[in-house]
This record gives sequence, structure tokens and C-alpha cells, in this order.
Amino acid sequence: MAIFQVESGAPLMGEATVHPAKNAALPVIAASLLTAGELVVPEMPDLTDVRAMCDLVAACGANVRREGAAMALSAPQLSPPDTAGLMRFTRASALIMGPMLARLGYARITMPGGCAIGQRPIDLHLKGMSALGAQITTRQGFIELSGALHGAVIYLDLPSVGATENIMMAATLADGVTRIENAAKEPEVVDLAQCLTAMGAQIQGAGTGTVTIRGVYALHGATHQPIPDRIEAGTLCCAVAAAGGSILLRGTRPEQMRALLFKLQEAGTSVSEFPGGLRVRGKAKWPMEIRTLSYPGFPTDMQAPMMVVACTTPGTSVFLETIFENRFMHVPELTRMGACIRVEDRVAVIEGGYRLQGAEVRCPDLRSGAALLLAGLTADGVTRVEDPAGHIDRGYVRLEETLSGLGASVKRIE
Ligand code: UD1
Repeated sequence: MAIFQVESGAPLMGEATVHPAKNAALPVIAASLLTAGELVVPEMPDLTDVRAMCDLVAACGANVRREGAAMALSAPQLSPPDTAGLMRFTRASALIMGPMLARLGYARITMPGGCAIGQRPIDLHLKGMSALGAQITTRQGFIELSGALHGAVIYLDLPSVGATENIMMAATLADGVTRIENAAKEPEVVDLAQCLTAMGAQIQGAGTGTVTIRGVYALHGATHQPIPDRIEAGTLCCAVAAAGGSILLRGTRPEQMRALLFKLQEAGTSVSEFPGGLRVRGKAKWPMEIRTLSYPGFPTDMQAPMMVVACTTPGTSVFLETIFENRFMHVPELTRMGACIRVEDRVAVIEGGYRLQGAEVRCPDLRSGAALLLAGLTADGVTRVEDPAGHIDRGYVRLEETLSGLGASVKRIE
């Protein structure tokens, strides 16, 4: 079990370089199944979710070679894996569906795992595959999909990131043109489209609500670097807004973090941009209203870290979570530390400005875990964050080292 010990101390100072994004890397790993050629990723983040995804594509027949930070993936031959156990770890496991189906005409998956932040159905992924011509059956806990794929017009009831990515990948090798309406606009979708385009796919409109994919006969190998992690960068911005200090974040793309940066500025933290990075300075001073939305709205993944900022600012903040129905699991843990938060359905009301107290808390999901580390930075005394499921390492590359490098007192003690 991972246990982190956190103490409040000096304000955060110094520089950090943001790692490549988990949510961009995982779909790229899945995309490697679309070609017999070699997909090279110059810098792959060292995350347990990445390892789980690599194990999964390896079980589908891919060769995965890691050399230092770089990774090379190739899948000359595919075979459906016995994925029951392999798919429990990360939600992104569902993303093998599109590539397997497109290349092999057959895919077999189980309901994917990941953070239990809501029901997280995959009906939109399946609806898309069905529209592309797949027959879908459920047998003994497995969902089986088969058939030759053809182009189709697919309207997503919600702009789901995973469904957009899965359908986009499946459509790259389908016969004819596919149009996804109400597609997700997240930067990670654009990143995947760029990777697929480098592999020979024909995709237009990624990053808008309408993505058009013209199927091609085959894809080839390519080199692609996933974008920097806007959520890791955002977490570090929230650390400064909660605990104070002044840090320089290198390798970020501020244009992909606008909603968070605006909200931090409104709350009184100073943000200045320079090419390839940003500087964040000073504690937040004022309460805030946060409504999570699909991109370019405020990211649901930043809701928990931002709530820690709201705990530190005097006044009443209101958070509305519109994306996931069970994403306030950090609230009982913050309450254990003395935070004053009421939750009613999807609304949390935070009375901020009371000093948090160190306590033993438990990490309920990935972003909540990061939020609890930030809470520890602002609390009196020692905070122990227990992470029995290893959530934090799923999505942050040695977060305790990044925070310590900025002068924070965060130790992994187990
Ligand atoms: C991705 C991110 C996750 C982020 C989320 C929203 C990855 C690996 N994970 O997750 O970090 O929090 O986007 O930005 O990229 N939904 C359905 N049916 C479906 C699919 C989704 O109802 O078939 C619902 C979900 O339950 C949720 C909403 O749509 O309420 C958004 O989910 P989605 O965008 O699909 O998130 P993920 O791709 O799972």
C-alpha cells in the first residue's frame, strides 16, 4: 500500500516540468493495435495505468519495447485476449475495442475498471460500433463484437471522450466515411487524431463537435509524442493557490488549461504565460463558483484539487459536478481534516477559510488522492494519505517527488 506523509511548510518555490498526459498516452497505446508497423513514443510517462494498458495490448498480441523513457509498440498479429482481469485496472481498457474490431473484425472485452466516480457505462462506445456495422453479443461477462465495419453518421448523446476516441479509431479502417456528431473536443482527442493522422488515417475536425473520418485500407508506423498533462499541471497550479508560493511550470500548454487558469485568477492567484509554460504565484484569496463541463469548460478532473483551494479561501464557494454522479468522494476525507463542506446531490457548498488539521485520510480515487496531498500542504500537523489501491501512481509520475522538488514536505513512507 502506498502511504504518503505530508506536512505544511514553506511556500512552494522553483520549477517543475510537466510529464506527458496519461489521458493522451493511453489512447495512443490502444492505437498501436491498428497497425503492423511500429508506433514510437519518444517519452511515455511512467505510470501504473500505462503499464496496465501495455499489458493489455501485449495480451492482444502487441510487442511493447521500453528503452529509457521511450516506448515502441508494434502489433504484427492480433488475437483476442482473455481480458477479464487485465481490463479491471483502467477505464481506458475499453479503447482496445475500436482498434481490435477495425483490424481483426472481432473484439472481446469486459466492463472496464478505473475510478468508481460514477456508473461509467460504455453504451455510447457500443452504439458507435453498432452503427459502424458491428454485431454485439454479451456472453459470460464478456461483450463480443464482430463484423466488417463501414462508415456511418453517429450522434453521441453526450460528448464522451472515450466513445469519441474509440469510434474514431474504429472508423480509420472502416469502409467509407464516418461522421461523429457531438464529439468530445478535449485536447486528448485532438492528440489521438494527430497520432492516427501520422499513421496514415484521414481525419478532419478533431477538437470540434463534428469529426469526420475517411476510412483507409491500412495504417502504418509513426512517431508521436502525447501532449503534456494539463491535469498534472493544473494540480500543481492548485497546490500554489492553496499553499502559496511561486512556481514555474515548463512544458505546459496554457491554452489547454484556460478554464482552470481563469478560475484561479478570479480567485486571486496570479498566472502569467510564456511560450511553453506558465508561472503561478500567490494564494487564492476569494471564494469561487465552479461548474464542471466538457472541454473547454472546467475539467471534472480538476474539481477535487480546486476544492482544496476553496477550503483555504474565506467565504462560501459552490461546486456543481455535471459530468460524473459520484465525484465528491474526497469530501468525507476533507471533512475529516476539518473542512466545512455540505454536499447535496451534485452540489457541494464549501465554507472556506478555516485552517485544515492533519489527519489520517484514505484516497478514494485518483484525483481525490492528489487533492488530499494538497490538503496536507495547507493543514496544521501531519497528514497521512493512505492509498491502498495505488490510485495516485496510476495518473501522476511520482507526485511526491514533484511536490518535494518545489520545497513541499511530502514523503512516500511505504
Ligand atoms: C475521460 C478521462 C477522465 C475524465 C473524463 C471526462 C481518460 C482515460 N479518462 O474519461 O480522466 O474525467 O474523460 O473528461 O481519458 N458516458 C456514458 N456512456 C458512455 C460513455 C460515457 O453515459 O458510453 C458518460 C459517463 O458516465 C460520464 C460522461 O459520459 O458521465 C463523460 O464520460 P467520458 O467523457 O466518456 O469519460 P471517460 O472517457 O471515461
